[in-house]
Amino acid sequence: MSNEAKLELDGKSYTLPTLTGSEHEKAVDVSALRANTGYITIDDGYGNTGSCVSNITFIDGDKGILRYRGIPIEELAEKSNFIETAYLIIYGTLPTRAQLKVFSDQLTDHQFLHEDMKYHFQGFPTGAHPMAILSSMINAASCFDEGLMNWKWGKNQQFDTYVAKLTSQVRTIAAYSYRKSKGLPLIYPKQDYKYTANFLHMMFSMPYEDFELKPEVVKALDLIFLLHADHEQNCSTSTVRMVASSQANLFASCAAGVCALWGPLHGGANQAVLEMLDEIHRSGDDGSKFITAAKDKNSGKKLMGFGHRVYKNHDPRAKIIKVACDEVLSKLHITDPLLDIAKKLEEAALKDPYFVERKLYPNVDFYSGIIMRAIGIPVEMFTVIFAIGRMPGWIANYKEIMEEPKSRIYRPRQIYTGKTMNHYLPIEQRK
Ligand code: SDX
Repeated sequence: MSNEAKLELDGKSYTLPTLTGSEHEKAVDVSALRANTGYITIDDGYGNTGSCVSNITFIDGDKGILRYRGIPIEELAEKSNFIETAYLIIYGTLPTRAQLKVFSDQLTDHQFLHEDMKYHFQGFPTGAHPMAILSSMINAASCFDEGLMNWKWGKNQQFDTYVAKLTSQVRTIAAYSYRKSKGLPLIYPKQDYKYTANFLHMMFSMPYEDFELKPEVVKALDLIFLLHADHEQNCSTSTVRMVASSQANLFASCAAGVCALWGPLHGGANQAVLEMLDEIHRSGDDGSKFITAAKDKNSGKKLMGFGHRVYKNHDPRAKIIKVACDEVLSKLHITDPLLDIAKKLEEAALKDPYFVERKLYPNVDFYSGIIMRAIGIPVEMFTVIFAIGRMPGWIANYKEIMEEPKSRIYRPRQIYTGKTMNHYLPIEQRK
């Protein structure tokens, strides 16, 4: 059976090459379509458009499958940790003991920001959203590094250093963003603390007293980071690749990813879910009124944390987080009415024809906020936590573009639908 596509256009017929990925996904290659036919493709929201081939993450949305470098998310969630998984995503294989030690030591070596960065933090008003601070401070941090200011695209000998710097410093910047937004003194990282423990230390310790690092809290946050580490060509990762394709430096490209992630339809959904659950709780609604509103296009409301462009089955991350929710809350002896409301909402929505027909299931954001709230992460930091988790995925996608010999600048076309030939009109003649 031919693996070419046939296209009939304006009485002419064309053949288009196709390609098949390692998981048997199929694509029609339209790279030469405009040159051969004068036509381009249009695809609202890129729902049917592949921007690249990639070896990093695989999702089967119909089967609810998510694998990082071929390893199922369920196995990594059970057996691995965030930093080991970050190495896997960025470098393509699970690290040996020696490789993991080198990577971990590099993260420690680069965990401090340049001391003058604190003057930048002082410039933000109290109450500035930590996502705004995070995106700007990633670029600010790059200003202190000559190699980033004179970025070498391609075979960059220092690239592994920048991987460690960004992976480590996004955590320090995030913690400082929180401390600044609360008017609290900055807490420096400790040399002997591991990644996630150090983040919690920088977030919640005080000069006179270290934060108590409960193992279940550290483990729960590390799992949240791991589950968010990569997810194919989502909105923010596509943004990182778009900026990277111009050969901008690694920090600039990932700072752009932070901005894209902030939106409530994307990473901002975890904050929106908690606000939704809190609104339902305070209104005394058992969720049914909200679900009715979410089905009404004119209500301006959506069931936040539900639905996904790719998953038309359960998001495997949501299933893992839901189980972890129950575990963490019982270990911490916390009962959270918002978790009960979330479970009721899920149960009701999964039986409601509106959601069933549209294949709308809970996504990663539906339960993640409950865990973060239980371990004391403030709601305005939820999307920042997502950004820290997603950083290895953004870095891996940047690396993939930079190492692709034929990588080109991303420059989509458009179909113009505005005014045809028009002319300048002196102001006195304008109506
Ligand atoms: C993330 O892409 C990724 O991989 C993202 C992510 C990652 O790891 O990077 O997985 C992280 O962003 C998860 C998604 C978080 N966002 C939310 O939870 C916000 C709520 N969800 C929706 O806004 C929506 O489901 C999206 C944005 C997630 C997906 O949007 P699509 O694919 O553009 O789907 P759509 O808006 O066209 O919806 C199709 C239909 C519409 O109804 P009809 O016009 O067919 O009648 O489903 C309806 C929508 O109105 N719908 C919802 C809904 N989501 C979709 N109706 C009510 N509540 C919802 N949540």
